[in-house]
Amino acid sequence: MMDKNELSRRNFIGKVGYGTLAALAATSVPSYGTVFSKDAGKLAILGGKPVRANKAWPKWPQPDEKIVAKVLETTRSGIWCRIQSKTGTVPTFEEEYAKLLNTKYCVATGSGTQALSTCMEALGIGPGDEVITSPYTDMGTVSAILTSRALPVLADLDPEAYQLDPDDVERRITPNTKAIMPVHMMGQPCNMGRIMEIARKHNLKVIEDSCQAQQAIYRGKNVGAIGDLGCFSFQSSKIMPCGEGGAIIGNDFDLMEQCFTVQNHGTNRKGKHVTIGPKYRMNEFEAAVLLGQMDSIVDRFHKRNENARYLNKRLKDFPGLRSQKLYEGTESGSYYLYAMSYKKEHFNGISREQFLKVMAAEGIGLSPYIPNGLHREAWIDHIVNLKSYKQLFGEKRLKEYREAMDLPNCDLVCSEMAMIWASGPLLAEKEDMDHIVNAIEKVYANRDQLKAI
Ligand SMILES: Cc1ncc(COP(=O)(O)O)c(C=O)c1O
Repeated sequence: MMDKNELSRRNFIGKVGYGTLAALAATSVPSYGTVFSKDAGKLAILGGKPVRANKAWPKWPQPDEKIVAKVLETTRSGIWCRIQSKTGTVPTFEEEYAKLLNTKYCVATGSGTQALSTCMEALGIGPGDEVITSPYTDMGTVSAILTSRALPVLADLDPEAYQLDPDDVERRITPNTKAIMPVHMMGQPCNMGRIMEIARKHNLKVIEDSCQAQQAIYRGKNVGAIGDLGCFSFQSSKIMPCGEGGAIIGNDFDLMEQCFTVQNHGTNRKGKHVTIGPKYRMNEFEAAVLLGQMDSIVDRFHKRNENARYLNKRLKDFPGLRSQKLYEGTESGSYYLYAMSYKKEHFNGISREQFLKVMAAEGIGLSPYIPNGLHREAWIDHIVNLKSYKQLFGEKRLKEYREAMDLPNCDLVCSEMAMIWASGPLLAEKEDMDHIVNAIEKVYANRDQLKAI
């Protein structure tokens, strides 16, 4: 369990307080690892030598020969669409992906957003219904709810885990709430124990947005296989990419058949046109790219976890940059992103943007990721003024809804985030992980130089 480190860090910080810890760190060598002496550590942004120079990170995506071979095979087969064969690349991929994630069934789609949309329709959630989800996610999450003409109700975050705060989810349930869509951000599991408890208590469906969290394990179960349905994305940056692609997993045969029918424009496997659905089928070439990765993904998953554990360990008592909190029960994560919160009070008050520039000069690219929570984007004013939404939800509910878009923890997370796009970089070696932490320590040890910038 990775949580132990997390808990010990929290206890330690809880006892001594951040101020004390900062003072300790400022007067002696911090206990969390090697610190550059000030002479050796003139900051690169001020003309010093960068911690990491002229060394690239592992490229992502990695177009290896197995992928090329699978695409060639598919091209030569003349089977380019999934309905041409029951044993083509898409059905084969679905079988293998279900096995990989220890679930019974998988239906592939053209994207993660399409997978989420399909689940909405398959579960019968639509106009007039409300779905509670996170404001800190890709727009695809909210888009799937909106295109069903349901109301995406945004709950606030646990600011240390960047995940939905289950207590706030429960507070936002109304008689029209039909589902919770937890988003496993950065590829780490949400607090699914509490979310499932709430869902059972209020008789709600759970659609897991696991688009970032392939292969993550929570309390012995694959993320995506805990709720009613789970969705994944294979968009180019993800840990198993094919350009654009998605999948739904689940263990309920009838529900998964309904997912198949919905994404097949409402046509079931027997060719009968039985329900409402768009055409969201994955194509054979996308599945070929994915099948070409089936041998490498498990090793890569372990490698990212090993590197993340190492980073967590080296950063564990460092209050200036705090690694994402992992919930008890988290056995492994996807590490699509390696996320940290930047605490400027420990860096002489320099802004997060300035810190990112200083780190970039040291050769370590950190990103602020999502600039604003989705509660701060224009789609909300669009829908509350839309005739169809007014008819479906009523002006009173929409007014209340607009006013409830005050999500301070999400704002805090957006303002402090400093993360690494980890799909490629976390496949690097231990010495590369040392570069990341050494650069952080160097900036920290020389933080008084930063006043001058
Ligand atoms: C959390 C989350 N949900 C949904 C999506 C949408 O997936 P796609 O881009 O494959 O449609 C993404 C993709 O970035 C995501 O990260």
